[in-house]
Parts: sequence; C-alpha cells; structure tokens
Amino acid sequence: MKAQILGWGHALPEKFLGNTDLEKMVDTNDQWIIERTGIHRRHIADQNTSTSDLCCEAASMALSKAGISAEQLDLIIVATATPDMVFPATACIVQARLGASKAAAFDLEAGCSGFVYALNVGEKFLLSPNFHYVLIIGAEILSRIVDYTDRNTCVLFGDGAGATVLGSGSDDYGILTSSIGSDGNGADLLKMPAGGSNIPASFETVENHLHYIKMNGKEVFRFASKIMGQICDELLTCCGLSYADVDLFVPHQANFRIIQTAMKRMNIGMEKTVINLNEYGNMSAASVPVALSQAAEQGRLKSGDLVLTAAFGAGLTYGGAIIRWGRDENGI
Ligand code: ACO
Repeated sequence: MKAQILGWGHALPEKFLGNTDLEKMVDTNDQWIIERTGIHRRHIADQNTSTSDLCCEAASMALSKAGISAEQLDLIIVATATPDMVFPATACIVQARLGASKAAAFDLEAGCSGFVYALNVGEKFLLSPNFHYVLIIGAEILSRIVDYTDRNTCVLFGDGAGATVLGSGSDDYGILTSSIGSDGNGADLLKMPAGGSNIPASFETVENHLHYIKMNGKEVFRFASKIMGQICDELLTCCGLSYADVDLFVPHQANFRIIQTAMKRMNIGMEKTVINLNEYGNMSAASVPVALSQAAEQGRLKSGDLVLTAAFGAGLTYGGAIIRWGRDENGI
C-alpha cells in the first residue's frame, strides 16, 4: 500500500508587495533583490486574514479535488511557523471550520521543511488501518513576523497556503519514499527569538524587534545549497532511480540561486522544475504544497509522472519525497 495524493489546493492573498514598494521601506533595490534572490514580488495577507483562513481555503479546494468530504477525514496536520496563536493548534481551528468532526488534529513546526515533514508523518499514519484520509496543509502568514526595517529578511518572505489530501491506495501511485532530518546545531541561524518560554513577550522584546525573524542568510544559504543535493541523491538511490527518471522537480522556493545549484547538480532543466518564487517569495511551509498544487492545475503533472520534492528550513531541518503522481482509478 502507498500513500497517494488524492487532491491538492492552494490559497494566496490578493494583495502583493513589489520590490519597488520595498525600495520605499528599506535601503534596497529591485535589481539587487532579483539578482540575489529571483524574487519580484510576494503576496501579503490583509490584517483580517489569519493563517487558519488560508488553511481552510486551500483545504476546501483539496477536498473538492479529492472528491471526499471533510467528515471523512481521519487526521489534519497543519505545518506552520505562524499559527493563529501559540495554542490551541491551528489544525483544531481548521477542523472545526471544515466540519471534520472525526479527525484528529495537530500542528507541526519544522520551518520551511514543514510540509515535507507533514507528508512523511501523514504517510506513516496511513499505514494504520484506522486512518484512511489525511489532510496536510502548509500555511504561513510570515508578514506578521517579518521586520520591514530589516533589508536582510523583509525582501524574502510571503504569505500563502497549500494543501493535499492523502489516502492509502495501491502500489501503482503515491509516495515511493520520503525522508526527513535535522541539524539542531544550526538552530540559532534562523529564529524568532521572543514570545516563547525562553524570552517571554515584554515591552523590551517588542522594542528590540525580537518578535521578528532573525536570520544569518549566508550560513543558511551555505547549508541549503549543500543539503538540497544530498536529500535528492539519497531519495533517488533509495528507490533505485536516477535524475533522468524525474519528470518534475518541486524544490522549496527560498532563493533561485539555491534552486539553480540543485538543478545543475541534477542536470534537470527549467522545463522540469517548478519555480514560483518570482511571484510569491519564500512562503516557508506553504512553499512546496503551493508549487505542487499550481503545477497540477497548470497541467504539468500527468498520471505516472515521477515528482521529486525537497526542502530545508529553520531548525535546521530538511526533507524530501519521491511521488509517483496519480491515484487508483476505482477510487480509494
Ligand atoms: N538589498 C540590498 N542589499 C542587501 C540586501 C537587500 N535587501 N540584503 C543584504 N544586502 C547587502 C548586505 O548588507 C551586504 O552588504 P555588505 O557587503 O556591504 O555587507 C551585501 O548585500 C551582500 O550580502 P549577503 O548576505 O552576502 O548577500 P547574499 O548574496 O548572501 O544574499 C540572501 C542574501 C538573499 C539572504 C541569501 O543569503 C539567502 O537567500 N540565504 C538563504 C535564506 C533562506 O533560504 N532563508 C529561508 C530559510 S527557510 C525558513 O525556515 C524560513
């Protein structure tokens, strides 16, 4: 039995912030941002939108594509670093709003690797006879924790959500292999320092901008450039496949130069790679599922295609999966 992707969906705020808008906020320019990151603009949620709103929109699309109702879900996992609140889990809020009355629900925090982590975890649940349908969402409103006075980070991030419905099916389709890992020695490289038990919120933490993303971009870049290739090598070796077998590469959308390094190593061209960071920036846990959903909607995926996905993020975490796209014809 394999965990098959039955449906996909995404939700993206309408409003966007262009590079020229950022030029008015910090000492940066359009040319620098495009050359160093590949990002042209990023979509930003309005003040009345919460992460759970984006989750529900993406989930509704995924359920409709899957052809199942929310009541049939056994589990909801929301991967996010920007939940509605510290607790309860955003997944529980989503469960209530969707009417997924019999589903268990929890959040998973693995930075930008959140969705591939959730895919790995969801796949494990589907091995149990008690779990038939699992909804996995990657969602972020990063604009709430981005410091728009810090040019090192504010040009990078955007908001959005992507969802997939997983179900167990035959060996013909689904997740062939998935893998996750972390290197906690890099925990300081990318973090939001305040608001947790270590540095609780206070007037001082707000004054010192400690509720915003702090990042050592150079070190994260170095780690990412190395780990993306490693993950993909290991996944393919595990399945006895090669890069020539890959039909679509869906990398985490953090920086075009990181993706390019991976593509070069794999000898995979643009026609086989999903790139949407030019439009959306880095949406962290939402990055991979939005890219996957858009690729499916654009007709870039047909039944039987081999999809390779890989991500890295705060933690430092990393992970990836190889998926035989498609689902059993008779339904699951
Ligand atoms: N505009 C203009 N200049 C800038 C900007 C900007 N927005 N940002 C930095 N610079 C300057 C720096 O101050 C520096 O100037 P200096 O030489 O006078 O000191 C110069 O540009 C070069 O800075 P670098 O940091 O070396 O720039 P780099 O080419 O490394 O690009 C970047 C920076 C884009 C952040 C890159 O390092 C990167 O993408 N890192 C990975 C980040 C990432 O993937 N983060 C997401 C992780 S996932 C998660 O869990 C959220």
